[in-house]
Amino acid sequence: MLRLKSSINGPTDVGPIYFKLTTMNNALPETAQTASNFIEAASPHVMNTYGRVPIALSHGQGCRVWDINGKSYLDALGGIAVNTLGHNHPKLVPALQDQIAKIIHSCNYYHVPNQEVLAKKLVELSGMTNVFFCSTGLEANEAALKLARKFGHDKGIEKPEIVVYDKAFHGRSIATLSATGNPKIQAGFGPLVEGFIRVPLNNIEKLKAATEGNPNVVAVFVEAIQGEGGVNPVHMDYLKELRQLCDERDWLLMIDEVQCGMGRTGKWFAHQWADIVPDVMPLAKGLGSGVPIGAVVAGPKAAHIFQPGNHGTTFGGNPLAMRAGVETIRIMEEDGLLENAATVGKHLAAGLNAALANELASGQVKEIRGMGLMVGIELAQPCSALTGQCAENGLLISVTADTVIRLVPSLIMTATEADEVVSILCPLIKKLLLAAA
Ligand SMILES: Cc1ncc(COP(=O)(O)O)c(C=O)c1O
Repeated sequence: MLRLKSSINGPTDVGPIYFKLTTMNNALPETAQTASNFIEAASPHVMNTYGRVPIALSHGQGCRVWDINGKSYLDALGGIAVNTLGHNHPKLVPALQDQIAKIIHSCNYYHVPNQEVLAKKLVELSGMTNVFFCSTGLEANEAALKLARKFGHDKGIEKPEIVVYDKAFHGRSIATLSATGNPKIQAGFGPLVEGFIRVPLNNIEKLKAATEGNPNVVAVFVEAIQGEGGVNPVHMDYLKELRQLCDERDWLLMIDEVQCGMGRTGKWFAHQWADIVPDVMPLAKGLGSGVPIGAVVAGPKAAHIFQPGNHGTTFGGNPLAMRAGVETIRIMEEDGLLENAATVGKHLAAGLNAALANELASGQVKEIRGMGLMVGIELAQPCSALTGQCAENGLLISVTADTVIRLVPSLIMTATEADEVVSILCPLIKKLLLAAA
């Protein structure tokens, strides 16, 4: 067994597995070349919470990344819908370098001017009114849940209840995993937070029946496109019905745009395809192009629920995250990335549909769905093995909900790169299906 040489990790005799750097690529930055000749494939000191593909990425350029062995990959995962501008973007990097040299973090005792700049921009883009900043998706959702509960308490409702969905994913804090509709994620963490009413997606009658005569309902909480649950889009008519129902019953409509928002579908926020405005909209992931950031955008019904002392977070709205958000949106606008996401997304879907036409006809591929650059390919069988097989063949993807291949690349992806995704991925899907037949 090869052993790690780095003095940082120190000698260890607990038997981790290492693999050796086999090639040295000229493109590798100096730090990666000098760090170590070995990388841990299993890491005994890091908690074992992720099923990892045994590669370590060293650097990237656009939609391409390199691992520490110098092998290159086309990145169709974008850090799970995070790297809006791809890697090493020529406009983003100097802006962040400038910011880091000035101030990375202050704290919320003081004003952070770019909080107002970014909030104003998000308000303009969403048609809403105010923003709370945090650092992750679950934090944004946690704040949304608190807003909904306080909205209820302010109306005299002591035990507020929130409508949530089958197959939803809202995060892994105790409250957000309770809102999540996946028993695997909840298992072992009970008792779950109470106050959620679960309904199936896209069925307004079932929602009405589940909430009939219940005076404690305060909000509906829904992803515009369920991401982790299998890339399941909410029907636009259903979103319109939700808006109407929430207005009639004085509930908050809270739309989780953490994964599907920030231009990915070709509009700034996926619900805008339904031409509605929510009362609360959590954002994160793509808003900072890789710098951790979260935000809760609120409309007039929810914008003034929190008062000083009701909510806060140390890192939320820090100068580095705010600069990343401001620059991400500026560059997206300058470079027409919404249009690009829509056009390249259509091109990608057309390519996948053509390449998998026979498998769609036979039912081995159940559906290719999504919007813009958020694409799910549902197979009739589990396909988690494809994540590693694609990586071996130079493509980064993910598989979610066991049977759905998820593509959420950077919004700078070109049509040629989309063709390359199809040409690597589809033969591997066919091979998997053949092996199972
Ligand atoms: C729709 C949605 N909400 C919330 C989250 C949680 O975000 P985070 O992992 O940043 O806490 C995710 C993460 O995948 C998500 O897809």
